[in-house]
Amino acid sequence: MNKAAQKEYAARRRQFMRMMGEGSIAILPASPERVRNRDVDYPYRVDSDFYYLSGFREPESVIVLMPGRDHGEFILFCREKDSEQEIWNGRRAGQEGAMADYGADDSFPISDIDDILPGLLEKCEKVYYAIGCDPEFDSHLLGWLKAIRRNVRSGARTPDEFVSLEHLLHDMRLFKSRYEVRQLQTAMDISVRAHKRAMRMCRPGMMEYEVEAELLYEFNRAGCGFAYPSIVGGGANGCILHYTNNRDELKDGDLLLIDAGAEYDCYAADITRTFPVNGRFSGEQKAVYEVVLEAQLAAIRATKPGAQWQDPHHMAVRTLADGISHLGILKGSADYLIETEKYRQLYMHRTGHWLGMDVHDVGDYKVGEEWRELEPGMVLTVEPGMYIAKDTPDVDERWWNIGIRIEDDVLVTNKGNKVLTHKMPKKVRDIEELMAE
Ligand code: GLY
Ligand code: MN
Ligand code: MN
Repeated sequence: MNKAAQKEYAARRRQFMRMMGEGSIAILPASPERVRNRDVDYPYRVDSDFYYLSGFREPESVIVLMPGRDHGEFILFCREKDSEQEIWNGRRAGQEGAMADYGADDSFPISDIDDILPGLLEKCEKVYYAIGCDPEFDSHLLGWLKAIRRNVRSGARTPDEFVSLEHLLHDMRLFKSRYEVRQLQTAMDISVRAHKRAMRMCRPGMMEYEVEAELLYEFNRAGCGFAYPSIVGGGANGCILHYTNNRDELKDGDLLLIDAGAEYDCYAADITRTFPVNGRFSGEQKAVYEVVLEAQLAAIRATKPGAQWQDPHHMAVRTLADGISHLGILKGSADYLIETEKYRQLYMHRTGHWLGMDVHDVGDYKVGEEWRELEPGMVLTVEPGMYIAKDTPDVDERWWNIGIRIEDDVLVTNKGNKVLTHKMPKKVRDIEELMAE
């Protein structure tokens, strides 16, 4: 880990421990490895909370934070060095590496955790832990508490209070540091290159998975994987919100919707573009596209400090309903389409979500009964769409199979916002020009 990263992770732990207060302990397991089939595992991706506080990505590890502990506040349990195992499965940091490279004050082999953790727990009044996320680890924790109870007659004492760790930590994760914005920007720049490449390569007759391969090529050659399985949906498939099958042929005259983002250093990009397979929008496609684009620009303008979480969504819905009414896709005024919620036949999802280490990132959307106010440092997506599936009731068939979403990633700043994915073309003319290259 480089110096800048070490400093960043140490600062996060300091801030989190300040909020926890002395006399408390936080326990965070890395996510378990998961079997894909028989003896093949899924590629390992460490839990985001765990990574956020450590930058450590080995499985079978546990972070323990104890603010004010004399012998060190940050304890990392991890696998021991083992030359035999390392020949088969790769290098391990070991306890020395955990301290030298990852800033742990103390590190123990994970195999010793049952002997050590009860002793640490019984010194604390308050335990921060995400109960219910990892059932196997929950049962370990219960086992350690039982071990303490067995010793009550020798003066041992179980902690008074269990607190859900997520509220504190996820509120912290919602506000991105400068370092985090840089990591996100890298993920987004790589994703922009991938989307541009896919747009340039797309031709009628290609398969959706061939276009997906162009995206993955750019992700992989930048040392990244994907933040979520790519959606590459031509024609009718563009109207399926979570389409990831990507097995159909791309037809002349259809649109292609691509929703794809790279993951860089555990930070996600999330970009959607929709464009004509043959490089030229038809009249109907262009008309709907312009409405979605106008809705997206209106929602982005509403993304600023002091606005409520729902404001960009309301702006998008208003603009979409105006467009639907104006083009006559559905009958009735925009007010009517909104009041009756008829617009939801064509736009059935929300306009965005927090974005960070998880694509649908953590952080509360409401504070009490109120929608949250946007504040500088928050990153969110703005992604309105319109999905006119075949046989949509009351819609003329010339609009069928037009599925459009336009999604950018936006940082709330002091002055307003910054579209971090602005380098990805989205005007009709710019898309047609890029595809003609
Ligand atoms: N790619 C998932 C989403 O846009 O929410
Ligand atoms: Mn999204
Ligand atoms: Mn998306």
